[in-house]
Amino acid sequence: MKPKIFITRLLPKPAMEKLAETFEVKVNPFDRVLTNTEILAGTKWCDILLCLLTDSIAEDIITCNSYLKGIVNYAVGFNNIDVEAATKLKIPVTNTPGVLTNTTADLAWSLIFSVSRRTPEADRFMRDGKFAGWGPLLLLGGDITGKTLGIIGAGRIGTAVAKRSIGFEMNVLYVDENRAIENEIAAQQVELEQLLKTADFISLHVPLLPETKYLIGKKELKMMKPTAYLINTSRGPVVDEKALVQALQEGWIAGAGLDVYENEPEMAAGLKKCQNAVLLPHLGSGTHSTRTNMGLICAENAKAIITGKKPPQIVNPEIYE
Ligand code: DGY
Repeated sequence: MKPKIFITRLLPKPAMEKLAETFEVKVNPFDRVLTNTEILAGTKWCDILLCLLTDSIAEDIITCNSYLKGIVNYAVGFNNIDVEAATKLKIPVTNTPGVLTNTTADLAWSLIFSVSRRTPEADRFMRDGKFAGWGPLLLLGGDITGKTLGIIGAGRIGTAVAKRSIGFEMNVLYVDENRAIENEIAAQQVELEQLLKTADFISLHVPLLPETKYLIGKKELKMMKPTAYLINTSRGPVVDEKALVQALQEGWIAGAGLDVYENEPEMAAGLKKCQNAVLLPHLGSGTHSTRTNMGLICAENAKAIITGKKPPQIVNPEIYE
């Protein structure tokens, strides 16, 4: 008899096939996020829970099945899981770092390009039949080349975003205690305030933790230059979205490129009316190969757990000490 895995949403086929080699698989049959009750029912049935960033895995789920052997998250971020509760029960929690670094960094850059050169707005302009010929003042944007890029959170993804700026001859500032980024690119470590006051593009790459919630609020947005752009591909609650809407409406900053939202899938009131915001539906890791590779890492993590080994990508390694 194979061990059982419950998967809260259908994953790319190669990942599903890999998981089925080791496990009896039960998967969410719907094309939607499951309710808490449905996740509870699935978790009671399985040995391993494979969940998504859209699933809130709180203590009630973690404790509902005393045979639960692992929680495998299909994401690098794991703020959706009560890791402390899992650790208390010695349940390993895993994630998928590494494979999505470049893909997410590429998307951050697509936001940098699109918000500064207003390409989504220009596309709407064309489709609406408003183009009446070239004009010297038509849809002007901000430059990228030679500007200052500010990276908040210089881990894997922040560093990858910074490295992509070399071709644009940008000056790179960063905020992070860890200085490893400096092995990859000439970047200057600064205080948050200095970065906010001087960067032309500010890209957020911190995990969502109690201390990073609302890292960018009214005060921080007011420190930014009126010509600067804010890019968020990390987690929505890192930014006070209501304050951001006010900043966009009142011109405290030039624009924002967002892939994540404070209360996904909702958006703060007024945000969708802001023409100076480019809004994407959490697509950071959204390429065919990356989503497949994330699933394959989940399969490796799940197999390691079920065979009593330390999984390759463990969030709470202390349970193996
Ligand atoms: C993650 O893995 O945390 C990303 O947000 C998924 O796109």
